[in-house]
Amino acid sequence: MMTQHNSFRPGEIWPDNRGVHINAHGGGVLFHDGVYYWFGEHKIAGEAGNAAFVGVRVYSSTDLYNWGDEGVALAVSDDPQSPITRGCILERPKVIFNPRTGKFVMWFHLEPKDAGYAGSLSGVAVADKATGPFKFLRAFRPNAGIWPLNVPDAMKHALSAAELAHLDGLDLAGGPRPWYPKQLLFRRDFAGGQMARDMTLFVDDDGSAYHIYASEGNGTLHISQLADDFLSPAGNFIRVLPGRFNEAPVMLKHDGKYFLFTSDCTGWAPNPARLLVAGSILGEWEELGNPCLGPGEQITNTFNSQSTFILPVQGRAGAHIFMADRWNPQDASDGRYVWLPVGFKHGVPTISWHDEWDLGFFDK
Ligand code: GAL
Repeated sequence: MMTQHNSFRPGEIWPDNRGVHINAHGGGVLFHDGVYYWFGEHKIAGEAGNAAFVGVRVYSSTDLYNWGDEGVALAVSDDPQSPITRGCILERPKVIFNPRTGKFVMWFHLEPKDAGYAGSLSGVAVADKATGPFKFLRAFRPNAGIWPLNVPDAMKHALSAAELAHLDGLDLAGGPRPWYPKQLLFRRDFAGGQMARDMTLFVDDDGSAYHIYASEGNGTLHISQLADDFLSPAGNFIRVLPGRFNEAPVMLKHDGKYFLFTSDCTGWAPNPARLLVAGSILGEWEELGNPCLGPGEQITNTFNSQSTFILPVQGRAGAHIFMADRWNPQDASDGRYVWLPVGFKHGVPTISWHDEWDLGFFDK
């Protein structure tokens, strides 16, 4: 008999039903027919584990503390020609269920093998069962040929020769840069599709779904509605806070307001979280500040973690779990999970540290 868990211990080893540390990094959780499914990157040990050698693993649970290993939901391919060939970079997988088609739909951030992070592709896969097997459909840059909803008509044209020359040789690697060209990259990528790296999916109360991704060299978030079958963009998207360099987006809705938690762009190293709010998902977004409460590093490094998903707890109105990763790029599979309850102060979400906590938190 494995030990039964009856609490969360953020940052500790989290054994599954076989006693093995859960291997579902950069993950997300789907609730379907009374069961929670946790999908995430299966990472192998060592630095090699920063690339994908297995695929997306899935676990199931009915209480959120105890997780049963359900195997590999989406396997990397042995075909060197496949976009998801073994050794590619496959990050932040999220799965949603489409009631119209009866299919489970997975989106993830994909980088072709041995090509760094320049590809900035979105991958899509589909399955008949939550636990898979998922069938890889395609990898692409979203929103090719579509202008964002929230840019003036005067900007809706290709780059001029002078603008192209300006971009040529501009150092856009890494995080925030004062010379970041706020209005050029989405126009450069209009024809071929927008860059899409860190991402999440969000299903609204009316059943519409959104792909939220770090775009334009990580400098600008996009919120992009999905088509009715959830397999492609619907054709309407907005740019959020151009030049603010928000990564690791995760979303919750509370009292009619949309809240996005994000991080700054510092690779695997943690940094202070940020909170953004909007009254409508494709509307005007405003930055509120750091949602973390507590002393010193707890707020300056988001409890030594980076956001990956917000899990709405079923049957408890307003109860949400902030899911984050404590990455270990030297030994990838040893990365830890930081799950913390979201509190609300004056209607605004907050996160505080707990060495150990349980769902009774939400009864208070
Ligand atoms: C992080 C990102 C991770 C991964 C990493 C690579 O900023 O959130 O998902 O892409 O960079 O350095």
